Amino acid sequence: MSSSVFECCNFLPYSLFLKRFRTIFIRNMSSKECASVIASLEDVNKNLTQILNYFQKNDIDISHLETRNSKNKSFKKDILLSIETPKKLDSIVKDIQKVCPNVEIQDVSNVINGNETVWFPRKISDLDNITRKVLMYGSELDADHPGFKDEAYRKRRLMFADIAFNYKHGIPIPRVEYTETETKTWKTIYKELHKIYPTHACKEYLENWPLLEKECGYSENNIPQLEDVSNFLKTRTGFSVRPVAGYLTPRDFLSGLAFRVFHCTQYIRHSTDPFYTPEPDCCHELLGHVPLFANKEFAQFSQEIGLASIGASDEEVQKLATCYFFTVEFGLCKQNGKLRVYGAGLLSSIGELKHALTDKAVIKEFEPEITAKQEPLVTTFQDCYFYSNSFEDAKEKLRKFAKTIKRPFEVRYDPVTQSLEILDDPTKVSMVLESVQIEINTLMQALLKMQ
Ligand SMILES: [Fe+2]
Repeated sequence: MSSSVFECCNFLPYSLFLKRFRTIFIRNMSSKECASVIASLEDVNKNLTQILNYFQKNDIDISHLETRNSKNKSFKKDILLSIETPKKLDSIVKDIQKVCPNVEIQDVSNVINGNETVWFPRKISDLDNITRKVLMYGSELDADHPGFKDEAYRKRRLMFADIAFNYKHGIPIPRVEYTETETKTWKTIYKELHKIYPTHACKEYLENWPLLEKECGYSENNIPQLEDVSNFLKTRTGFSVRPVAGYLTPRDFLSGLAFRVFHCTQYIRHSTDPFYTPEPDCCHELLGHVPLFANKEFAQFSQEIGLASIGASDEEVQKLATCYFFTVEFGLCKQNGKLRVYGAGLLSSIGELKHALTDKAVIKEFEPEITAKQEPLVTTFQDCYFYSNSFEDAKEKLRKFAKTIKRPFEVRYDPVTQSLEILDDPTKVSMVLESVQIEINTLMQALLKMQ
């Protein structure tokens, strides 16, 4: 049997991300103006070469570049470019349109308190913009993927990718009729994991199972539907899931958590080896993540990692992504003097779940500054695991860590409008304080009535 370890989160760890995705990170320390544009390209190679030549001739530096499939059918790719330039953006746009007239340019500069920050979603429907930014999916399986030579499996993966690409916030997630083979794979994993959950999983994980069985159809003979899971989570913690076709960048993935949205795969691993998958699949999501997203403390903890990532630098996002990896994916906690598991990567991996609670595993206390330096491993068991005394404890440490992140604004999630509120002026802050005061008054009234 091959290793049951897998790449368990829906973003690529940075080392792989940099290898697999042609993102250019060029740090520029000059005092040039910053701006961001999206260029929609018909002929990607030709147009991009024209634009880059223009930048070179005009002393324009690229600080960030990424591509996605264009939503506009007239174009093939959208290129997001963050640039540092001595010229005004208006004149750059005009110049580019002279150099390549068939390119459409859109200014998406995100200037807060006079500083350009990276783009981030402001409202929950903005997450539609990142769904298409997956780095790898079905048709692009690596040669060592168990389904690489299986045409039917690859076709099936494209069907799941289509659902994810076409999904828009607010519509029901399409139901999938899983095949007999897929359900058999699920059953094999489900049965083996349930044998060790009682002695290995944390109590917060275990306590939600009866509800998941009742309200989402969790059973060894049924793969739950994402739509049911999403509706269930909304009623428990306000979390929801949306389908994703493969890996997102760490920044995009974490930004979903800021809205209490979990990007969730819907496909299942290849049937040849139920205990191995080189990427996250619905077994990992549904068995590993979902039971804990139904826990209020854990949901809050996850959202705070997401909020801390908003507008953070690439380096800081990397640190947060590593903290996410060693907590939400591979975290342990102490309960009644014993170590228990809450990390989804462990809770969906029989071999590593057993290993993590043996004497062979190296276990340290979760300290964000230290944890952020630990290298996440994606093809073997982790060299080290981190435990917290409680989710509250982990949350407090993470909050302190988040305060060290340098950004010119604070951000909060407004659940009424399902949007991120940028707290960058005193009026906004006083309005929030007023609503907090009303909440406090309600709580005081409740306490008085109890007396
Ligand atoms: Fe995960």
